[in-house]
Amino acid sequence: MRRYSRIAGTGSSLPPRRVTNADLAAELAQRGIETSNEWIIERTGIHARHFADPAVTSSDLGAEASRAAIAAAGLTPQDIDLIIVATSTPDMVFPSAACIMQNKLGIAGCPAFDVQAVCSGFVYALTVADALIQSGSASRALVVGAEVFSRILDFNDRTTCVLFGDGAGAVVLEAADTPGILASDLHADGRHTGILCVPGNVSGGQVLGDAFLKMDGQAVFKLAVGVLESAARNVLQKAGRTEADIDWLIPHQANIRIMQGTARKLKLPMEKLVVTVDQHGNTSAASIPLALDSAVRSGRIRRGDTLMLEGVGGGFTWGAVLLDF
Ligand code: UT7
Repeated sequence: MRRYSRIAGTGSSLPPRRVTNADLAAELAQRGIETSNEWIIERTGIHARHFADPAVTSSDLGAEASRAAIAAAGLTPQDIDLIIVATSTPDMVFPSAACIMQNKLGIAGCPAFDVQAVCSGFVYALTVADALIQSGSASRALVVGAEVFSRILDFNDRTTCVLFGDGAGAVVLEAADTPGILASDLHADGRHTGILCVPGNVSGGQVLGDAFLKMDGQAVFKLAVGVLESAARNVLQKAGRTEADIDWLIPHQANIRIMQGTARKLKLPMEKLVVTVDQHGNTSAASIPLALDSAVRSGRIRRGDTLMLEGVGGGFTWGAVLLDF
């Protein structure tokens, strides 16, 4: 009998410090940088984001989200046999945030590693976990997106620092006789490395180059709109489904205009779009599992619903996962 994987539980974690656009505009004004609540809402749909305190790391947020996902699945950390963390803001160069998180969960022995695909990280990680479960290498995987993007933001650059936030989301993916995950579609195009990057690196005991996030917003915007539609169509075709089968579209939460554009192209009513970018900002690899958990816990997403998850970001990377929840 063929082996599939299905989501057994979801969880998330947001640092308590909520920063509204007005709070951020006031902070930036002290540096002589001008922005406004109106500009941020009109161009992005963001109203607020959460920022972690300096001592809090991605593995802290990821561990909290994981505990909630494990509890929602009716399991204990000892049941987990694979940990994959998608992050671009790991606690340190190495070991991985996944190994540090594993220790915080009080378990040892199972494989644990990070996936680096920036804002597409969660769909990449989910696809890798699904493949390892299908092959029989794992049975209960913890798949996490965890970020402290506030650490890599240049608060003198208003074109980027108003867009991002911190947080984590997690799912327990377990082996099942029926899907679960129906199909995935992953891509990358390294020709576009320069449009979204943190170009610094560690060398000779120092950070060389610029370790702040750089983005050509308009170039990213244009690419994102096209690839999100093609990934969605590819994954529907692979699964033998159509747009009409989608109950919920959960795209990467970067900009409400990109998300609404994708929904329109798929002829989905806006009520089927899960939106958390207004309250979380862009939390990179954490945005999809954060949005998923919020819609599950509010009772909107129910067992049996068909979900389209879509990621896009630095690399350039993009991808989609279609699943029956
Ligand atoms: O997570 C990975 C995926 N990332 C994304 O999907 C991001 C994709 N890109 C975007 O979401 C949008 O391009 C942005 C939200 C980043 C920018 O929106 P835009 O409509 O493309 O604005 P723009 O860059 O064309 O800037 C318009 C104006 C400029 O002024 P001028 O040149 O017209 O005088 C900017 O200098 O808005 C100005 N501006 C700001 N004004 C107030 C840029 N940032 C700000 C700001 N506050 N924070």
